[in-house]
Formats: sequence, structure tokens, C-alpha cells
Amino acid sequence: MEPNRPVFYVSTPIYYPSDRLHIGHSYTTVAADTLARYKRMQGFDVMFLTGTDEHGLKIQRKAEAAGKTPKEYVDGIVAGIRDLWSLLDISYDRFIRTTDPEHEHSVQRIFQRLYDQGDIYKSEYEGWYCTPCEAFWTKSQLREGHCPDCGQEVELTREESYFFRLSRYQDALIRHIESHPEFIQPPTRANEMIQNFLRPGLDDLCVSRTSFRWGVPVPFDDRHVVYVWIDALSNYITALGFEGDDDALFQRYWPADVHLVGKEIVRFHTIIWPAMLLALGLPLPRQVYGHGWLLLDGGKMSKSKGNVVDPVVLCTLYGVDAIRYFLLREVPFGSDGVFSNEALIARINSDLANDLGNLVSRTLAMIERYFDGVLPDERRFDDDAEGGGLDRELRTLCEALPGRVASLLDELQFSLALAEIWKVIARSNKYIDETAPWVLAKETATHPRLAGVLSVLSETLRVLSILLSPFLPQTAPKIQQGLGLDDPGRLTWASAGTFGSPAPGTRIRRLPILFPRIDLEKELVRLAEMGARGKPETPAASAPDKTASVREPAVPADPPTPVPVPAPAVAPSDEDLIDIDQFSRVSLRVAHVMACEPVEKSDKLLSLTLDLGDRTCRVVSGIARDYRPEALVGKRVILVANLKPARLRGQVSEGMILCAKAEDGQYRILTVEGEVPAGSPVS
Ligand code: MSP
Repeated sequence: MEPNRPVFYVSTPIYYPSDRLHIGHSYTTVAADTLARYKRMQGFDVMFLTGTDEHGLKIQRKAEAAGKTPKEYVDGIVAGIRDLWSLLDISYDRFIRTTDPEHEHSVQRIFQRLYDQGDIYKSEYEGWYCTPCEAFWTKSQLREGHCPDCGQEVELTREESYFFRLSRYQDALIRHIESHPEFIQPPTRANEMIQNFLRPGLDDLCVSRTSFRWGVPVPFDDRHVVYVWIDALSNYITALGFEGDDDALFQRYWPADVHLVGKEIVRFHTIIWPAMLLALGLPLPRQVYGHGWLLLDGGKMSKSKGNVVDPVVLCTLYGVDAIRYFLLREVPFGSDGVFSNEALIARINSDLANDLGNLVSRTLAMIERYFDGVLPDERRFDDDAEGGGLDRELRTLCEALPGRVASLLDELQFSLALAEIWKVIARSNKYIDETAPWVLAKETATHPRLAGVLSVLSETLRVLSILLSPFLPQTAPKIQQGLGLDDPGRLTWASAGTFGSPAPGTRIRRLPILFPRIDLEKELVRLAEMGARGKPETPAASAPDKTASVREPAVPADPPTPVPVPAPAVAPSDEDLIDIDQFSRVSLRVAHVMACEPVEKSDKLLSLTLDLGDRTCRVVSGIARDYRPEALVGKRVILVANLKPARLRGQVSEGMILCAKAEDGQYRILTVEGEVPAGSPVS
């Protein structure tokens, strides 16, 4: 704790202990983590709280079914949840369990205080209880006799209970919500609360139960346990020591800046929780943000529907950052979105492998190739140099980027913030194609502009890596290592706004492929074979059973390459051998790529117009996933020039260009070094 730094307090909901946390559960936590990391980089003293919500009838029943005490039952599961957060690189500052003795004690003191001041009173409860949601409903709130939230059966409950005078706070809540438009976000959720719950009138809330024992005992009447939501919501202040032995953290961090919650629990956080705080005379959190759901095939991704997608398996297959990226990029925060394996792989291939991965590998490879890994000291980036307008454009974009990303992150618009970053990534890839460093390198080995172009790219990557680090905490440091950045002063958020040049003598390091491209079609088949729950088939990547998969320690951070490994080279048998005459029947010629464009309705094919010296021809090639069309223009490729024409997607292809298939499944075209005229024979 540094007294003079501004503070920022963000929380996730505390999770029900479930050994089957699915990818949707990771959503709130990954978002909160990204926000916490961003705020730390901005200089805030951050408190990021998460934890587990362990009491209630549901847990008691599950423990009974498993032949364990409730505490034994939850201990193992909670360990697994912590492992999942460490796998996902969640940088929480405090993890609270509602079974922590300090929490239980503080809850009792809160309950006692509310009772002593007349906010809690004894009466009799008769109503409908939904055990999966741990929520009470009146008959009129039920939907066709079932829980309006989860659709499951409800139980008629009649018992002596303590009640919280929720109705007393109805007007104060309406006033607060109306006078603090930022309190409930997005704004539609505020309208929902006012129209559906507050205006129709609040009933007092039943806050104790006698029909089960697994909860915090009511301090003055131990036949009762405290209602789980009163117990759970209190975590946001008991975790800071409120009504405990030392409330220094509470004094420092409360009120919370933002509680991030899924939309189905906004009601608890914007009605019951603020009413409790008003009763306790405490300030209200500045904001409750109700994000949407990640859906699977149109339904909520809940295990009761059998639609679970295991985050451990997904992280094992594709890497933690790919999953974090997908969660935050795919769905605008606040709206619902659909999860599908296909959408995930498409994002990995296009945004991470093609856009970001290529930008990093091309830049580092060129610095290595043209300057042995160290840019010369005299390199300058010069707005007035030939082509300097391009430098200026990229520099201006980079300088504006931290501000744009910050204001979107301040509004929790993770997806839009990433979209802004990707605009600069796309512009940078285009800058490489426009400046064509390989052409500069051919003109003269020490072309004055070559070092300048690579210096601009290196700086751009530095800025991008800083802004990406809250989202991709494993990849951003790798990029920084690749760039040889070891001065912490050049890695701060503030430094991202100043575009300079790499420090003299900085040595870059080539990196392994950051995001291997995945063969979409084959991968979808493989995932389908793994079954609805997605089990990797290889022992190395296996997640033995669901419980173990969550409990196991973090899997390796680097994604295994999920593309087929090429078959090992085997010496051909005699009848497979061809003689030189047979080979010489194949006409191989050097062709210059004059133009290149995507083939309509195909994500695989590019149409290339080739100069063969004595004629031009058109070739359709399946390399669209590996090259952007403009990157091919100007290259000297090798053409099989006497192939019978074939028709592909309605276009005639008059030959084939030669490519190597790399281990990562990407095609790399074979090109010719030096000034070889178009049409030259290859032998
Ligand atoms: N224990 C309560 C919260 C108490 S907070 C005082 C609870 N737990 S939960 O485990 O069911 O949910 C935790 C978080 O996961 C919630 O924010 C919930 O909205 C989120 N999600 C669970 N499934 C989800 C999706 N399919 N999609 C997005 N978020 C989802 O509620």
C-alpha cells in the first residue's frame, strides 16, 4: 500500500464451487483481470478481489451425495478453481472464501448490527425457493410454476425466518440509481431494475433459513443460518477487514470502483447489496457492470444443459492468451455472444496468427536478416525522407493509440479497445508491404531508408506490446523480449504515448511462432471427435477427467502446435523413382507476380497474375490463409508452366506455383533470389 497513489477496487462475483467451470465462467474473471492489469499500468494501487461462495443448500446436498462433509467437498473444488485462475494468469490481489473464519465472523457482526438497529426482524416465511439459484420468488414471479431465472423447479417453503427491511430502502435506491447514471451499466440494466423490481415495490427479504445447516449461523439464534446472498454479498467488504480485527484495507479501498457481474445477478448487486450498505451507513460501489452471457448454440452455457466447454482443455490446446483474446474480442462487453469452436479458431488464425504473429515475425526476421539483429545507430526515422509520409502516418496512429485504448478500457469496452489496437496492427502490416524493405535491401545493402523503416516497425511493436499486455499477459512480454526491450521505463503505459527509436545497440531475438495457424477444417473434425466436452486425444495434452482437469496445476503456457505434423520423410522405393527425362517434361519457370487478389467466396484461394516474359498467365493458388494478396506483388515465384488448365471456384488456373508446407501447416512460396528475368527456366 502506497498512501499517495490513487486506488482502484475491482471485483468479480465469488464463484459457486463447481468442478465443472466452463469457458463462460472465465469471462467475468478474464475481464476483471484485464482491467486490473490496465489500472496497475496506469499507476493505480489496485485491489482485485475474487473468491468462492461456498455455503447453501445446493452444496450441502452435493456433499451428502459425495459422502463428504460440506467443507471437505468444497476444499478440493476451490483448490481447482484457484488452479484455473492461475492457468488463465488471473492476477487477483485477494481470494476470499465464504468459509474463511474471518469472513464468517464479520458476516455475523453485520447481521447482528442490522438486527440491533431494527433492520432485521423475526417473522414467518412462506414462498418459493429455487435451490440452484439460491433465490426466493413470490408466486406471481414464477414462470409457469418454475424459477424465472433458470427455469428449474422451485420448492414451497414455510419456516420461521428473519427478514431484512428491504422495502425501507426502495425510495433511496430509486433516487440513487436515477441520480447516478453510471451506477448500473449498461444503462438498459438500470431501466430493467427500476421498471421490473423497484417501481412495482420491494418486499422485505427473508434472510435466514432453518431447514439446513450449511451456512453462517445467525449469532443470536443458532437454529438459523444466514441467507447465502447476504453472506456472499458481504464478501466485498469482509475481504477488506470490515467488522474484522484490522480494517485498514477497507478504509483504503472502499467504495469499490466496479463490481463486474453477469447480467443474471445484477438484481442482487443493485438492490439487495446497496440496500444492505445503506442500512450499514456505508457508501455504495461506484458501479455495477452487468455483462452479457456467452452462449452455446443459442442457450446459456450451463452444465444443466450439458453445454460445458472446458477452459482447461481450450487453454491446453490453444494457449491461454488465445482464449483470453477470444473472450474479450468476440463479444462486445454487455451483450450476449455465441461461443463456437469455429469462431475461436477463426479468430486465432486471422487476428493472432496472421495479423499480430506475422507482424512480429516479419519485423524481427528482417532486422535479423538485414542487420544481424542490431539496427545501426545512425538509423533515423525521418518524416522528410523519401516515403517519410508513411512513417508519419504510422507514428501518429501509435501516438494516439494509448489514449484511445485507455478511454475504451475506462468504459469497459474491451472488444472495441482490441479493435483499435488491431487497426494499427493492420496498418503496420500494410506499411511493410508499402515500404517493401526487401526491395530496399536489394538496392544497396546499407540503404539509408531500410534501417529507418525497421526502426519504425520496432517502435510500433513496442507500443503495441505495452497496450496488449493487460489482454495478453504471456505474449506481450515475449514480444518485448524479441525486441530486446529491457529498460522498464520503455515498457510503461505512459511511455507508449511517446514514439521514439529503439535504444542504440539493442539486439533483437527471433521468437518461436507466437500463434501457430490452425487448419480449421481438420481441427473442427478433431474437436468433434474429442466429444462434446472436448478431451485432447494425446496424453501430453490430456485432461483426464473433469474434476482432475480443473484441479491439475497450470498446463504449459505455450500452446502445442495444433496442426498435423508432416509425415516423416521415407526413402522412395525403386518404382517410385523417375528418370531425368520424366523430370524434364515438367516446365518450371520464374514468374513475376504482377497482381494478386482474393477469389470471391473462398477463404483459401488467391488469384495471381503472372508475368512469364513472353506472356502473362493467371494462376489460382490455395495460399490465402498464409499471405495477404498485396504481400505477393513483386515477388519472383516458381511456376509449373505446362500443367493442364484447371477450373477452381469458377476461375481458370493455368499452372501452379511451388510452395513448401512448413511444420506449422503454413505454406511458404518458393522465391528466387537476385535479378532473374521473368520466364527464366528452372532446372
Ligand atoms: N455465487 C454467485 C455470485 C455471488 S457474488 C456475491 C454466482 N456464482 S456463479 O459461479 O454462478 O457465477 C459466477 C460468474 O460467472 C457470474 O458473473 C456469472 O454471470 C458468470 N457466468 C456464468 N456463466 C456464464 C456464461 N455462460 N457467460 C458469461 N458469464 C457467465 O453467480
